[in-house]
Amino acid sequence: MDGNGRWAQKQGEQRISGHLNGVRPIRETLTGATEIGVKYLTLYAFSTENWSRPKDEVDALMELLVSTLASEVEELDSNGVRLRTIGDTDSLPPGCRAALMKAMERTAKNDRITLTLALSYSARWDILRMVRSIATDIREGRIDTHAVNEDLIDDRLSTRGMPDPELLIRTSGEQRISNFLLWEIAYAELWFTPVLWPDFRKEHLFQAILDYQHRERRFGLTREQLPAS
Ligand code: IPE
Ligand code: MG
Repeated sequence: MDGNGRWAQKQGEQRISGHLNGVRPIRETLTGATEIGVKYLTLYAFSTENWSRPKDEVDALMELLVSTLASEVEELDSNGVRLRTIGDTDSLPPGCRAALMKAMERTAKNDRITLTLALSYSARWDILRMVRSIATDIREGRIDTHAVNEDLIDDRLSTRGMPDPELLIRTSGEQRISNFLLWEIAYAELWFTPVLWPDFRKEHLFQAILDYQHRERRFGLTREQLPAS
């Protein structure tokens, strides 16, 4: 979700106004994804690097997270959304953590769609944590080096239990990954749009998915080897 600051600037407003106007697109994307049967939606809401932004902006983002959770949790729950997070949530302010825990507990049994918020997340942070956890188990003799395989790595990342993303969307015209799910996106299809996040609507999501449906995903194979579709 990129482009909130530029959107606000274009309107002659403060950056935070862009973040406030970034809530509607979240609602639209979640509803659109749910309607067409997407099972996992992961939103990159706040990166490890975002902590270095001006304190006012960080504080406002944390408050926005708490107030949005409070106002939306009822509807999330009744729409069958299961909320989870990836990232270093221990570093979030206590009020934020409490609101997240509450919303996650409340929605834990839902299974229509899993909405994952990446908060204080970066893929390198996650990979580092995974390496440390495996290295410790090897040192303590709990696992053998030969037992380290892709499944074990999947299991030690904070995305454990989630399938790899099939489609990655980035708004605002930037064409880079910025430390998002580096291990998991090995074969994801990428879709970039100049639309700034506050202007992103359900139609843009559907446009991205229609585009995705015309891609040929070969996973390193030749076209002839693919199952006939
Ligand atoms: C995305 O919008 C929201 C967050 C990273 C929290 P930005 O705040 O990055 O907006 P730009 O890139 O400055 O326009
Ligand atoms: Mg940005």
